[in-house]
Amino acid sequence: MLSDTSTATVRATLPAVGAAVGDIADLFYRKLFDAHPEFLRDLFNRGNQASGTQRRALAGSIAAFATHLVEHPGTRPDVMLGRIANKHASLGITAPQYAIVHTHLFAAITEVLGDAVTPEVAAAWDEVYWLMANALIAVEERLYAQRDVTAGDVWHEWTVTSRTEDTPDVATFTITPAEGTPAPAFRPGQYVSVQVELPDGARQIRQYSLTGAPGPGPRSFSVKRVRGTEGPEGEVSAHLHARLHAGGRLRVSAPYGDLVLDDSDAPLFLASAGIGCTPILSMLEHLAEAGHRAPVTVVHGDRSPADHALRARHGALAAGLPGGSSHFWYETPEPGHPAERTGRVDLGGLEVAPGTHAYLCGPLPFMRAVRSQLLDRGVAPADVHYEVFGPDLWLAQD
Ligand SMILES: Cc1cc2nc3c(=O)[nH]c(=O)nc-3n(C[C@H](O)[C@H](O)[C@H](O)COP(=O)(O)OP(=O)(O)OC[C@H]3O[C@@H](n4cnc5c(N)ncnc54)[C@H](O)[C@@H]3O)c2cc1C
Ligand code: HEM
Repeated sequence: MLSDTSTATVRATLPAVGAAVGDIADLFYRKLFDAHPEFLRDLFNRGNQASGTQRRALAGSIAAFATHLVEHPGTRPDVMLGRIANKHASLGITAPQYAIVHTHLFAAITEVLGDAVTPEVAAAWDEVYWLMANALIAVEERLYAQRDVTAGDVWHEWTVTSRTEDTPDVATFTITPAEGTPAPAFRPGQYVSVQVELPDGARQIRQYSLTGAPGPGPRSFSVKRVRGTEGPEGEVSAHLHARLHAGGRLRVSAPYGDLVLDDSDAPLFLASAGIGCTPILSMLEHLAEAGHRAPVTVVHGDRSPADHALRARHGALAAGLPGGSSHFWYETPEPGHPAERTGRVDLGGLEVAPGTHAYLCGPLPFMRAVRSQLLDRGVAPADVHYEVFGPDLWLAQD
């Protein structure tokens, strides 16, 4: 909890810091990567740096945390902290790295805000930083302990046992631990980080959701190739598509992620768009294995049936559940596809049972639209969970 003196100072300076937080984040990353080029090469996602999304997520999270401290003293924004800590854990972030980030962040704050940073202001924001950092460190320590790994050492070598092409742009890789050890447990909806060495020597990391049931055995993930139509071609997805085949080796982290199915018998609503179907597939595999009987409504939107990754399995899993139903929308459907399922997902004609728990994954505009339609139908905001396939800009803005 923030001290009384710091609360007053943070409240008074929040508008100025909030207005400058984007510039602070820009300068912070420049300073961090000047001092530690290996962070940009081998730890941070340089696509997110180039597009600016990670900077916005960092800035937004600090502003949101500070606002929370002054507006809801005595409570913590656990959803936001959990999301960040899971991402950090999948990257093996360690406690000493927080001191490095602190050095460069505070150098950036002082440079951007100049004389406004009196010793009192610096002390108050120092307190905010360490409250947030220590909260994250504590959650990350728990996450490492849960997977029986030490911080910074979440990586193992895996071997690709098979590769299948699901759509022209999506390939599914099945992997098994190279050392012959059992695959670590995971919860349906979780992801792994995957690290690959690119032609320029950088070892870039990306996250991929696991698609199978969480029991023993090999693990699978599906990668959509990011084509260079609206920006540069995706570095890691293109590399995996071009270079990774059966027999290949891959560095994969322990599984993490906070979009996980709860164990209740509440009616479920599982909605995805595009490659966002991957965590939903894992949830459905798990429900099928567990003999789940409560209602499960599966909703998916895609450009066309041919673009819908894991389409047959998606439909079959939903159909196999006693309370399951599936509703697929396509912008360009096959002939005979119902007109009311053509175009963007629209929940208008669907029944949403009272007490529904919803899990969403897809582009932000899709999730915003589905979430607001669910809230209009009486679903409680706390029962709508979601995963973003990139830095979470939604969370930072909420
Ligand atoms: C929790 C989580 C789970 C995920 N699960 C899956 C999954 O199951 N399957 C899946 O396919 N993906 C998944 N993703 C997404 C995945 O991690 C990668 O983000 C995706 O594969 C793209 O990575 P890339 O290296 O190919 O693209 P990048 O090189 O990282 O590029 C990403 C985007 O940034 C743009 N960009 C890059 N450089 C610039 C620049 N200089 N200027 C402007 N824009 C730029 C690119 O055009 C592209 O649109 C998941 C992500 C998260 C966070
Ligand atoms: C209080 C301190 C910190 C805050 C507030 C913070 C905040 C964040 C946020 C908001 C994200 C995006 C999460 C998401 O939505 O996916 C993130 C990701 C990340 N963080 Fe931190 N972080 C902190 C400390 C650190 C430290 C110490 C390191 C290690 C040097 C680090 C490395 C990373 C990396 C590598 C990512 C993923 C970046 C990407 O994929 O683009 N962070 N952090």
